[in-house]
Parts: sequence; structure tokens; C-alpha cells
Amino acid sequence: MTRVGPGTPAGATLRRYWLPVSFSHEIKSDEPKIVRRLGEDLLIFRDEQGRVGLTEPTCPHRGTSLEYGWIEAGGIRCCYHGWVFDVNGRCLEQPGEPVGSNFKDKIALKAYAIREVGGLIFAYMGPGAPPPFPRYDFLFRQDGERTYDGYVRECNFLNQLDNCLDPVHATILHGREVNGARENPERAENPEFEVLADELFASYVARRQGPVAGKEWHREVSYTPPVLVIHDGGSTPDDPNGYFADVAWRVPVDDYSTQSFILKFFPFKDGQSTKRPKRASNRPAPLLRGTRMKFDMTTVNGQDAAAQIGQGRIADRAAEHLGYSDRGVIQVRKLWMAAIQAVQRGDDPPGILRDLTDSEMLHFDVVGSGRLVNIGEMVEHRPRVVRIQGME
Ligand code: FES
Ligand SMILES: [Fe+2]
Repeated sequence: MTRVGPGTPAGATLRRYWLPVSFSHEIKSDEPKIVRRLGEDLLIFRDEQGRVGLTEPTCPHRGTSLEYGWIEAGGIRCCYHGWVFDVNGRCLEQPGEPVGSNFKDKIALKAYAIREVGGLIFAYMGPGAPPPFPRYDFLFRQDGERTYDGYVRECNFLNQLDNCLDPVHATILHGREVNGARENPERAENPEFEVLADELFASYVARRQGPVAGKEWHREVSYTPPVLVIHDGGSTPDDPNGYFADVAWRVPVDDYSTQSFILKFFPFKDGQSTKRPKRASNRPAPLLRGTRMKFDMTTVNGQDAAAQIGQGRIADRAAEHLGYSDRGVIQVRKLWMAAIQAVQRGDDPPGILRDLTDSEMLHFDVVGSGRLVNIGEMVEHRPRVVRIQGME
């Protein structure tokens, strides 16, 4: 479930999906880069026409790194003897070979299929023809703004995914300032939460007392294979809270580190921006400060990093003692295991839509950042993917 290299069960499953490999703004045409994704070192570059290539990182001629190449002549020119490769890996020029030689036609650089949309660069690193691109509305909609955030966490991607359906950690790890809990930890508010799972989503719905008497907040976080965490999918399009998307892909760099790609989509309202100001950083938690020098325990990210990397770069799950409060974690693993098993059977893993057309977009219907509900009121909600016709 954790190893991501080619030929491993999880690695083979991850390679059946389109995965983000970079933010668009990080790939400039004057700066080819080496990135590591799914345990493979890869060259990523943007050609003169703005197209992105993701290829093996070394030149097939005599093996120097293409990272030092120049963008020109319809691709990237190797710094050593000037062979040129385009974004599809085709060899276009070999300056040292005789005029009229067809040697270049016999040379190719391994290149992966790329799709650039919504400020992200996606790649398909699997076998055969790529499946249709999942046209999520938060990537394709033009009537709003997007913000991006990313970081590398030095642990296996499943350490991080285990955390997404773990609402208890929020009150303990992040919540020591809540309700005077710093002085009195038993006052930390542990949410009531329900775990839902089907063949596409594992979710929790947490209920917390809201600011309004007689009402409570419902908040949902969902995981869908392979690595997508949906903190907010904007609920239904007619939701009074309005549409807002907040999603994160936890893409393995290799077995021991993970790159998060975080995207938020803010729709325009009456032509105006609805972008929310970045939340001020968390108040410091003085009791925790300085207990370890490695992580900044005064920020949510530092707290999560400390706990997740502290489990070991790959958590030893055989040594765990899972309780009732871990039932969300269990569902994340079951869903991921089911995806791996589907690939091993020769089937498509969950979420691959072979019949998706270019006139459709996919909308995640989840409650996300919350809705206010009368205490005791039964609310039926299951996260789902809705197809929207021609809304681009
Ligand atoms: S090593 Fe790249 S052209 Fe010779
Ligand atoms: Fe957290």
C-alpha cells in the first residue's frame, strides 16, 4: 500500500491516474528542472511554444543530464553535443551526425503524457493510452480565481492520507488553544463524527457546537483514490454557502517523501472576487514551543509534520492499536486497498471514467467547510461526483 516505484502494487495503481506533477508557474521556459515523482527522476521543461514535457532526465546519446539543456529549436537541446528532443521525446536534431542521417529517427526519450489546466501540470505515468482527463470544475471553470499552495513532507504519502479522516487529531494536535484546553486538556472538544464510505469516497462528517444556540456545524472531509483529499467541494451548486473548492493532492515524490498540491477555487460573485484573505498564522502554543527543535509546533503544518514524520518515514502499521476513533483511517486504507486490488485484477481502479466527454465537468458534492444544522435534525448527505454538462 505504501511503495510507489514502478512495478510495485501501489506504484502500479498510482500510475493508472492523471496526477499533478508541478504547478504551472514553477515551470518557466528558461529553466528546465529535474523533479522526482513516484520514485522516478524526471526532466520537466516548457518549450518555446509553451508546451510542457516530462521525460527521462538523461540524454540517450551519452547520458548527461538534460537539466543543463537549452530551450530552443522546438524542444530542449542537450548541453553536451546538442541533440534536441521535443516534449513528446522525439529526437529532432543531432548536430554532429552527417547531413541526411536518419539516426535521429531511431532515438527517443521516454516521455509521459501531459495535461496542463487550472494552473497545474498533470501527467499520466502509466501503461497504454491515458484515460480521459478528470475534468474537475475547480480546474476548468473560468468564472473565478484559483490559489495554490504546496510543500514537501518527508514521509510516505499514506502517513499523510491516514491523517485526512482523523478528526480527533485536530482537537489534540492542533487544538490546544481551544476552550482553554492548553491549561486543561480534557476540555478539548472532541467532535462527534460519523464515517461514510462507498466505492469512491471515504468521508467523515463531524458535528461541533456552532456559534448559534440550538445549531451545530457539520463539516465533511473526503478522500478519493488515489491521493485526493477534498476539504471543501462547495456542496451543491445551489448551496447558500456558495461554491468554494479546497482540494489537496498528496503526490508521492518517492517512498519517503510527499509533495502536496493544494488548490482553492473562489468563484466570482456578481463579477467580484470572493477570495478570502489568507488566514493569519495560528496563535503560538507556548507549552509546545521548543519541545522539539525540528518542527515548528506553533503552526498547523509544523504540528502535522511532527506527528506524521514522527510515525516513521513509512508508518509501521503492523505495530498499531487502532481504536473506535480510527474508523476513518481504516476506511481510507480499505478504499486504497480496493483500488490496488482492482488494478491487480486487471480492472480500472475507482474514479476512472472511460465515458467522460469534453463537454462534461465533474463536480464534487461534499459539505466541506460546513453547514449549520438544527441540533437533532437528521441530515442525509453522501459525498458524490456530479456530472455537469457544458458548463465551461
Ligand atoms: S550527451 Fe547529449 S548530445 Fe551527447
Ligand atoms: Fe492536521
